[in-house]
Amino acid sequence: MKVLVMKNKEEASKRAFELLLADIKNGGHILGLATGSTPLDLYQQIVKSDLDCSKLISINLDEYVGIAPTNPQSYHYFMQHNLFDQKPFMKSFIPDGMNFNAAEVIKHYNQVLKNYPIDTQILGIGTNGHIGFNEPGTAFDSQTHQVKLTTATIEANARFFASAAEVPQKAYTMGIGSIMKAKHIILLAFGKQKAAALTATINGPLTTEVPASILQSHPNVTILADQAAASKL
Ligand code: F6R
Repeated sequence: MKVLVMKNKEEASKRAFELLLADIKNGGHILGLATGSTPLDLYQQIVKSDLDCSKLISINLDEYVGIAPTNPQSYHYFMQHNLFDQKPFMKSFIPDGMNFNAAEVIKHYNQVLKNYPIDTQILGIGTNGHIGFNEPGTAFDSQTHQVKLTTATIEANARFFASAAEVPQKAYTMGIGSIMKAKHIILLAFGKQKAAALTATINGPLTTEVPASILQSHPNVTILADQAAASKL
């Protein structure tokens, strides 16, 4: 695990972009992408750059269940608005949150991940150590599945909705096992609210109570943190 503490999130995102470019140059054309506030700067870097994304494939980590792609709170909308509208990819996959047949969504997404093995996975981290929507207690070998979101995650994500009551209760997510198959994982962590989770991820025991701690056992992980997120390391 390579841990790089950067001056601020802008510097960290710049470095993440350089690492991504290096992977792409080396033939890595399948990107695993995250939503949330953490990767926004990185997506801005991509948008501002002259990187040609038309031969790249993206696979997103997760999507809420029951929110249409046209809803600004959906992860479909987020990706479209923050990246794909400006930089169209060759193919982009996001779990279908409007399909309530979980078995069908799961089967399809696991097949997508098999057909398109991820070269570089971008991750944020939850305040409880979650990656994707893999909440504490999720099995390390889990594949795509439907989750019931925890109160902590609903409260953390309520800032994007009118109230916590409007945050969907369920989501589809790639599993921890799916994430671990990526050749290179870049985890970004910004702000003091991530400090405890980041310390547990890097210095704590490998435990399903801190889903991101599994990354200690991956051969090629880069963690980019700002000073605040790194303040408890
Ligand atoms: C989003 C995702 C989540 C977020 C995490 C951090 O696709 O998979 O695990 O990365 O909840 O969210 P932010 O970046 O909003 O702090």
